[in-house]
Amino acid sequence: MIDQETRTVSNHWQSPLGFVAAAAGSAVGLGNIWKFPYMTGQNGGGTFVLFYLLSIVMLGFPIMVAEVMVGKISQSSPVRAYSRLSNHSRLWQALGFVGVMTGFIILSYYSVVGGWTLHYLFLSVARELPQDSQPQAYADLFGSLYQSVRLNIWWHSVFMGITILIVLRGVRSGIEWVGKWGMLALLVLLVGLAIYSSTLPGFSTALEFVFGHSENFTWTSALEALGHAFFSLSLGMGAMLTYGSYLQRRDKVLTTSLAIAIADTFIAIGACLVLFPITFSVGLEPAAGPGLVFINIPLALLQLPFGYIGSILFFLLLSLAALTSAISLLEVPTAFLIDSLGWSRRLAATVCGGIIYLLGFPSAVSGGEGFWGEGLKQTLGMNWFDSADYLTTNWLLPLGGIGISLFVGWRITAEQRKTELGSIPWLYSILVLLLRWFVPIAIVFVMLHALKVL
Ligand code: TRP
Repeated sequence: MIDQETRTVSNHWQSPLGFVAAAAGSAVGLGNIWKFPYMTGQNGGGTFVLFYLLSIVMLGFPIMVAEVMVGKISQSSPVRAYSRLSNHSRLWQALGFVGVMTGFIILSYYSVVGGWTLHYLFLSVARELPQDSQPQAYADLFGSLYQSVRLNIWWHSVFMGITILIVLRGVRSGIEWVGKWGMLALLVLLVGLAIYSSTLPGFSTALEFVFGHSENFTWTSALEALGHAFFSLSLGMGAMLTYGSYLQRRDKVLTTSLAIAIADTFIAIGACLVLFPITFSVGLEPAAGPGLVFINIPLALLQLPFGYIGSILFFLLLSLAALTSAISLLEVPTAFLIDSLGWSRRLAATVCGGIIYLLGFPSAVSGGEGFWGEGLKQTLGMNWFDSADYLTTNWLLPLGGIGISLFVGWRITAEQRKTELGSIPWLYSILVLLLRWFVPIAIVFVMLHALKVL
C-alpha cells in the first residue's frame, strides 16, 4: 500500500472543487477556443461536433479517469507513479518519461501562440487594431505578427515568464488559485459574449451550423474529431495524472473526472456559439482556418456595437485559457524533478521553464525566412513550429494514451481499480472494457490513419 502521507498538506488541493477548477483550466485552452471552432468550420459543422462529443464519452472520459486515478493512488508525478504501481518496471517508467518530454515540447510552441493572444490583448486595449472593414487589413496584421522575430520572442518571453511565476508559487497558492479565479472569469466572459452573440442576426444560422447536418463530413473528419478530443482534454502525457496526484484519499475520481470533461466540452461548444454568430453576422466564411480567431474576430467585433470592449474581453478570455493550460504543461516536468531528483520547487520550475523557454525560440522564429522557418519547410515540408505540433499531437500523445489505458486496464490490480472506481458496478465494467480494448484499438486506428496505412 502506498503511503498517502508522503506529500505535505500544502502539496494537496485545498478542495475537490479546486482540483476540478485547475484541471478544467488545463483542459480548456487554445484547443477549445481557437482550434475547435475552426476545425468545426472546416469540417462543415453538425456531424463533426457529434463525433467529437462521442469521442469525449468513449475515449476521453475513460482515459481521464485512468490518469486521475493513477495519480491519486500513486501520489506521484508520472515517472514515479508508473514505477510505484508496476514494481519498478523500466518499461512503464519510460512511458512516464516520454510524457515529461512531451510536455516540454508542447509548451515550447504553445507558449508562442499564448504570446500571440497577449499581443492581441495588448492591441485591443491600446486601440491599435486596424479600424478597417476590409479583411485584408487584419490578415496583414496577423501575417506581420507571425513573421516578426522580435514580437514573437518578446511575447513568448512574457508568456513563459508569467507561467513560471505561477508554477513557482506551488499547488495551492499558485495553480489552484489561478485555476479557480481564471475559470470563473472565463465562464463569466464566455457566457457574457454568448449572450451578446445570441442577439446578433447570424445567431440562428450559427445554431443550425453547429448542431444541424453537414455535407462535407468524411472519415478524415471523424478521425480529426477523435484526435482533438484527446488534445482538448489534456490527456496522454501525464498532466491529469500529475494533477490527480494532489488529490486526497477521500476525493472521488469518477465525479471529479466527469466534472472536468463536462466543463471542457461545455466551453468548446460555448466558443462555437460565440464565434459563429459573429462570423455569420458580418458575412464571413466559417471555414477560415487558424485565422478564424486572430483575423475574423477583431474584424467582426470592431464592426459591431461595443466592439472595442468585445475584443478586449475576447482576448482576455483567450489569454487566460492559454495560461491555465500552460501552467499544467510546466507542472509535469517540474513535479518530475521535485519527485524523482528531490529538487526544490523553485529550482525545478525555473530550470524546466528556462529550458522550455529556450526550446521555444525556434518556434517563435518559425514564421520567418530563416532556417527554422522557410529553410526546414523546404526540406521537411513543415517548419519547426508545425513539426513540434505534429510530433506531439499525432504521435506522442496517442502513444501516452495507449500506455495509460493498458496500464490501468491490465497492469494494476483489480483491487486498486475497484477501490477507486467500483462504486457503480455497471460503470466499472464498461470502463474496464473500454480501457482494455476499445481505447487502445481506437488510438491505433488514428495512428494508422496518420501514417496513411488506412
Ligand atoms: N488542453 C489544452 C487545450 O485545449 C492544451 C493542453 C494543456 C494539453 N495541457 C495539455 C494538451 C496536456 C495535451 C496534453 O488547449
